Amino acid sequence: MFTYIHHVGIACRDLDAKIDFYRETFGLILVSQEGSLQEGVREAMLQVGENGQLAASPLGREATPSYVQLLEPLGPDSPVGKFLTKRGEGIHHIGYAVADIAEAMSEIGAAGVQIIDKLPRHGSMGSSIAFLHPRDVGGVLTELVQVAAVAGHGVR
Ligand code: CO
Repeated sequence: MFTYIHHVGIACRDLDAKIDFYRETFGLILVSQEGSLQEGVREAMLQVGENGQLAASPLGREATPSYVQLLEPLGPDSPVGKFLTKRGEGIHHIGYAVADIAEAMSEIGAAGVQIIDKLPRHGSMGSSIAFLHPRDVGGVLTELVQVAAVAGHGVR
C-alpha cells in the first residue's frame, strides 16, 4: 500500500532559521514554500538528495525524491501551535506515498483506522493528502500522500 516515505514533518518555531540549518548543515534543497491561513501554518519542503530514490509507482520504477517538511505555526491555537506547546520542537508526522489515495483511505478505513480527513485535501506541491488518527497508529500522526502527476509522465 505505501510505496515509500514521501516526507517527515517537523514542527519548529522559526521556519527561516530551520530552512537555513537544513540547507547549510545537511545540503537539503529548498523546493517549495507555502502557507495556509486556514490551517494556521507556514511550511517548507526540502528535498533530500538530488536524484531521489527508486520506488514503485503505477508507471513502473522511477526516481522519487523524499523530503523534510518544516512546519511553523502562525499562532498557538493552530494544530501545530498546540503540538509545539505540548511536545516542543521535533518530529510531527510521517507522510507515506500511495498510488491512489481514495483507494488507500478506503482500505485503511476498513481496517479500523480512523481517517481524520473525510475526503482527500490539497497538500504541498499539488499533492492530495489525508491524515490518519495517531491514536490508531501507535501515537504516530500519519499522512497519506498522492503526489501530483509529473508533466510529461502522462496521466496517473
Ligand atoms: Co506533511
